[in-house]
Amino acid sequence: MTKLKHFLSITDFTGSELLDIFTLAKTMKEEFKKIGASKPLLNNKTLVMIFEKQSLRTRVSFETAMTQLGGHAVNLSQNEIGIGKRESIPDMAGVISGIGDLLMARTYKHNTLEQLADYSIVPLINGLSDLEHPCQALADFLTIFEEKGTFSGLTLAYVGDGENNIAHSLCLGCALLGINFRCASPPGYSMKPEIVANAMMLAGQSKSEILQTSDPKLAVKNADVVYTDTWVSMGDEKEEAVRLVAFQPYQVSKKIMGMAKYNAIFMHDMPVKRGQEVTEEVIDGPQSVIFTQAHNRLHVQKALLVKLLEGNLF
Ligand code: NVA
Repeated sequence: MTKLKHFLSITDFTGSELLDIFTLAKTMKEEFKKIGASKPLLNNKTLVMIFEKQSLRTRVSFETAMTQLGGHAVNLSQNEIGIGKRESIPDMAGVISGIGDLLMARTYKHNTLEQLADYSIVPLINGLSDLEHPCQALADFLTIFEEKGTFSGLTLAYVGDGENNIAHSLCLGCALLGINFRCASPPGYSMKPEIVANAMMLAGQSKSEILQTSDPKLAVKNADVVYTDTWVSMGDEKEEAVRLVAFQPYQVSKKIMGMAKYNAIFMHDMPVKRGQEVTEEVIDGPQSVIFTQAHNRLHVQKALLVKLLEGNLF
């Protein structure tokens, strides 16, 4: 019997498995665009989604993905279920994983996801935790592949909060896929050391490089992709005033974009604070692919759902 596969980290797949997901996602995207329908590969299947935090892209894309594949999604907010309060995590996982075919959870603590995974008898997907946001990274890499036609030899420069979920998943994903990754963050907001250590090990295998710096100019020099995220992630709200000051020199502006390659793309996972981590003219400019990233959440997650069930049930 195949071991139960969860998707809590982008590193739960190998580089070659990620490429398989992107290939399937591209096929499903083209098929849907051409005939306006997908094969009902998840007929009679249910995805149970738990949200401790707010969500727009994750909820809409997963719910739409299940509908297009002939299945169904159930949405549960923290107010409705009181995870860890009204009911223990093991009890909750035992109930919903015995009814649903797949689980997806967005949590504050990554450890909540790990506990859910321990007690779930079906695959669990990380829909964002404080440590990683691997579903967003899947959509980002699909977008990069569509824009650049390759991963090999590319450099992705991430400018801003290195200590967050997006930076971590991008760093690890780049290391798996052979993309050079540079992260520019203010002192005190660097990526977690254990993430960097893992990424360095993976980058050694894929022959790519990982660089962490406090200099945004060094990071973006000749980069193919410039990426930023909010300076105040969900859960960091109490630190907002301090963060807005610390991150000011890390705003992505036209000047910063001008230091990257002439054909560099600008990426952001959204929601975006316009005029804060990025200027309006960059976010709405010709190099920006932010809406393609958001739309690709749907296509890549359809492929993810199918792959996770294929690996576990048949
Ligand atoms: N780093 C952001 C990502 C939002 C999709 C957050 O955690 O709030």
